[in-house]
Amino acid sequence: MKKTALITGACINTGVAIVEKFASEGWDVVFTGRSIEKVQEAENDYRAKFPEVQILGYALDSLIDERTVNEKAVDDVFNDLDSKGIFIDTLICNAADQGLNMKVFENPLTDFQRVLNTNVTWNLCLSEHAAARMKEQGGGNIIFVNSNTAYRAIPDRVAYIASKGGQLGMMRALAMDLGQYNIRVNAILPGMIKTDRWDKNPDFYAKVPSRYTPIGDVAVGADIADAAWYFAAHARNTTGAELVVDGGNTIQLYPIIPEE
Ligand SMILES: NC(=O)c1ccc[n+]([C@@H]2O[C@H](COP(=O)([O-])OP(=O)(O)OC[C@H]3O[C@@H](n4cnc5c(N)ncnc54)[C@H](OP(=O)(O)O)[C@@H]3O)[C@@H](O)[C@H]2O)c1
Repeated sequence: MKKTALITGACINTGVAIVEKFASEGWDVVFTGRSIEKVQEAENDYRAKFPEVQILGYALDSLIDERTVNEKAVDDVFNDLDSKGIFIDTLICNAADQGLNMKVFENPLTDFQRVLNTNVTWNLCLSEHAAARMKEQGGGNIIFVNSNTAYRAIPDRVAYIASKGGQLGMMRALAMDLGQYNIRVNAILPGMIKTDRWDKNPDFYAKVPSRYTPIGDVAVGADIADAAWYFAAHARNTTGAELVVDGGNTIQLYPIIPEE
C-alpha cells in the first residue's frame, strides 16, 4: 500500500530535499510551511515534478505567541487529513526556530520560550497527533531533524542548543513509550548543511569553523533526506537512535583549518 510522509518546514532548504527524496521513492507527501503563498508555490512545484504521487501542503505556524503553542492548528491539520482518508506513516519534524543571535544577558526570556516552544513543545504536539493515528493503524515512524549542537555548543545560540538537547531527550522518551505500538522514533543529527544562506552570505560560510570536517565538506539537504529515508524505510529494528550526518565534525577536538 502507498505510504505517506508528513514533513514540516518543507518550502525551503532541507525540507525540500526530504520531500523530493520521499516523493521520488513513490511516497505521497504532506508538508508544511508558515506562509500560505509559499506553501501553494511549493505545492505547485512538487506536483509538477512528481505527478505520480499525491502532494498536499498546509500553512502551519507553531505558535500563537512566544508562550503559546497553536495546538488547535495541529488538531485541524490532522482532522483534515482524517477527513481525506490520509494516514501519516512517517512524521518528519524538520522545521525549527534557528534562534539566531541570542545574547545571554540581553534577550528576554520570551525569546528563549519561543524557540523551546517551537522546537520541543510543538514537535511533541505533532508527534502525539501522529502517534495516536499510527497506534490505530499498527505502527509508524517519527523522525526528528535534530543537530550535532545538541552535544557541542556554538556561540550565541543558547535557546536553539537547549531546544535540540531537549528534543533528543523527548525523542528517547517517545521511543520508550511508543515502541509497544510499533512506532519507531529516531533523530538525525546534522552538522552544517548547505542551504540558501550559503549563497546569501558566502563570506561568512567561507570561513565558518564548522565547515572544516574530516570528510572535508558539509552536508547538502539530500544527505539529510537519505538519513530520513533510512529510518523510515529500512531501520525496522532501530528506535531511540541518533544518526550523525556531519562529515565527522563532532569527533574532532577542534577543526583543522588549513593555512592560507
Ligand atoms: N542548516 C544547518 O546548517 C543545520 C545544521 C544542523 C541542524 N539543522 C536542522 O535541520 C533542520 C532544517 O534546517 P534548515 O537550515 O533547512 O532550516 P531553515 O532553512 O531554517 O528552515 C526552517 C523551516 O522551519 C520552518 N519554521 C521556522 N519557524 C517555524 C515556526 N515557528 N513554525 C513553523 N515552522 C517554522 C520554516 O518555515 P518558513 O518556510 O515558513 O520560514 C522553514 O520551512 C532544522 O531542524 C535545523 O535545526 C540545520
